Amino acid sequence: MTVASAPGKVYLFGEHAVVYGEPAVPCAIERRATVRATKRDDERIRVQANDLSINGFSVEYTEGATEESAEFDVPHPLVEAAVGYVDGAIEQVRDVLDASVGFTVTIESDIPLGAGLGSSAAVVVAAIDAATREVGIELSPEEIADRAYQVEYDVQDGQASRADTFCSAMGGAVRVEGDDCQQIGDTPRLPFVIGYDGGAGDTGELVAGVRSVRETYGFADETVSSIGDLVRTGEAALLDGDLQELGRLMNFNHGLLSALGVSSRSLDSMVWATREAGAMGAKLTGAGGGGCIVALDPSPASGTALQYTPGCESTFRAELAHEGVRVEQP
Ligand code: MEV
Repeated sequence: MTVASAPGKVYLFGEHAVVYGEPAVPCAIERRATVRATKRDDERIRVQANDLSINGFSVEYTEGATEESAEFDVPHPLVEAAVGYVDGAIEQVRDVLDASVGFTVTIESDIPLGAGLGSSAAVVVAAIDAATREVGIELSPEEIADRAYQVEYDVQDGQASRADTFCSAMGGAVRVEGDDCQQIGDTPRLPFVIGYDGGAGDTGELVAGVRSVRETYGFADETVSSIGDLVRTGEAALLDGDLQELGRLMNFNHGLLSALGVSSRSLDSMVWATREAGAMGAKLTGAGGGGCIVALDPSPASGTALQYTPGCESTFRAELAHEGVRVEQP
């Protein structure tokens, strides 16, 4: 058995616009998906997920998951999504090996599923690393990022950026613009506070929704470009260590994402609760529709305010994860 883990992430700036070639700055956070991969004697894939901040499920199949073969006690769309990502990861491993090997894959994760914290990217990145190492191959984090991106691209019907997978594989704060992916070296300490509404958004649907709004309304195309401008300004603030300016820009970014239709009542409530508590800024993170917001606040005030915000299920502080994918047990 080989065990690897990879971090989740928050978007400081730029989700959705990054799908159209604008830059984005995601930051890896110390919440990890851990994947155990054991090579099997047959070609089957067994996926077990015992702790995904949901009840867990277990699925075994040869080619894709069928309802008959699956036993689960969590909502089907979440299971299908998780299995789709693991399936894609194993396809990548088979491509590396040029052989149809089978694996038992066990997932544990403290990143809520579909909540904007990069759970799927972390699972795919960790699964590719664990399964390739299990058969004696060590891929570079860059190659894992590239292969994990292919998986997200397929699962999200060709509407994915490299941001989530590159960030999870490399760790730290990164900058992604189209195919150009770079790590950002020196960042100030970023006092992230997360608010989670207990819900999830369907990334594929949300990305498709933005695409349709952008195709229908000229303003939406300009909104996407404005997010790109904002990210470029934000990068300079990040390098200057100007947290107040970063917060202001996060607020603008949330407004622009709302204009694209990807916020929700609970996300807006959590954003406003932290702003009123004195956060430097706050925005939704990831695809939106439900899930998490990220606020910048070195004080405990935002966390306390979130605890009393209707619609907020949990809140925690997130530290930047300097390490990306890593082997936990060779
Ligand atoms: C989802 O975490 C981020 C999006 O920008 C989609 C993507 O970049 O693939 C909404």
